[in-house]
Amino acid sequence: MLQVCSALTTFQKEKIMYTLDLNQMSQNEFLTKYWQKKPVLIRQGFKDFVDPIAADEFAGIAMEETVQSRLVAKKDGQWQAEFGPFESYEHLGERDWSLVIQALDNFSEESAELIEPFRFLPHWRLDDLMASFAMPGGGVGPHIDNYDTFICQGSGKRHWRVGDKGQHNEVIAHEALLHVEAFDAIIDVELAAGDILYIPPGFPHEGIALEPSMSFSIGFRANSAISLLSGFADHLIDNDLGNQLLTDANRQTTQHSGEITTNDYANIKQQLQNLLDDDQVFENFVGKFLTSAKHELDLMPSEEPFAQDEVSELLAIHAIKRLGGLRAFYFEGSVADNVADGVCYINGEQVTFAPEIAPAIKLLCDQLVVMPEELTPWRDNEHFVSLMVELLDQGYWFWTEAE
Ligand code: SIN
Ligand code: CO
Repeated sequence: MLQVCSALTTFQKEKIMYTLDLNQMSQNEFLTKYWQKKPVLIRQGFKDFVDPIAADEFAGIAMEETVQSRLVAKKDGQWQAEFGPFESYEHLGERDWSLVIQALDNFSEESAELIEPFRFLPHWRLDDLMASFAMPGGGVGPHIDNYDTFICQGSGKRHWRVGDKGQHNEVIAHEALLHVEAFDAIIDVELAAGDILYIPPGFPHEGIALEPSMSFSIGFRANSAISLLSGFADHLIDNDLGNQLLTDANRQTTQHSGEITTNDYANIKQQLQNLLDDDQVFENFVGKFLTSAKHELDLMPSEEPFAQDEVSELLAIHAIKRLGGLRAFYFEGSVADNVADGVCYINGEQVTFAPEIAPAIKLLCDQLVVMPEELTPWRDNEHFVSLMVELLDQGYWFWTEAE
């Protein structure tokens, strides 16, 4: 009990709820008109926006070993970049630098809340929440991203320019900075706190701070076929699958020993196709692949294992919250292992459970926070409680206030 209470005290900060307003546009209209198609400015997408994190706390996070951070600066017309962890920022001056943190959602519980309004998009498409603090003149330079991003302006103002998709020459401005040559703007705006700029992949863009300012980018990155294929190959090797040799017991003599016949080519292709067609194997891979952590998790496994009856009692009082950056998904429909069959995927692993608790597992996968009342039907279910014990022990879920 003591352990639970001390864990709770770290999460007592003021909670800010972010409500996304697409300016009279429905989420479906946004998807039809803009998603993956063209950039759009959403003025005051977040009304009365308050930064989820203070600039000094943000700078402190970039001092931690496990955090991926970058300082980008322009000095005498030259781009400079260095990677964290950083020990000090004193040498940086009052202008022309920007501090960027990747996967801030893994390290700042309050910042992770900014992802929540974007749950109208499936979470498996989400990459991370990237954020930056920039001094006037600071920015990361003109560039093209290969992911969809919602750039949410925090405190302070920035000037943003977005160019059209097309042929743009990329230039190496610094060994760590791939920039794009000058482009004509199709959007040229000043963003203030709460304004959102949505930019699909392939559109060049550049933001320059007009004042000391914070910016939060919710990035959605789709997997390329090549990353899937290489991940699948690793999965097959790890599971000792796909070793069957091609069989050709019915072969006839050939007059052209140098030829690969259409038939042989089709057989070779089929051999590979068979692996993809095996939904048991491929789905297992996809579940593990999509739930693998994109960035290091800030895992804090419980010091002492939880007891079954203790968890059962606490589920009645406290909400449970998923660790920032933890990925948990399930399949529904006519694939090999549905959630209804008792299968889901958490942090790169297949997790099996009693099929009767599937509705509770869906809550864990669909929601960041699950409230005690939502778990009323499950808190005395021994299958659910023993799975919760494991997830709490691993630090994948933790107790939070039920507000
Ligand atoms: C930034 O926050 O400065 C960069 C965001 C982006 O261009 O994606
Ligand atoms: Co960008």
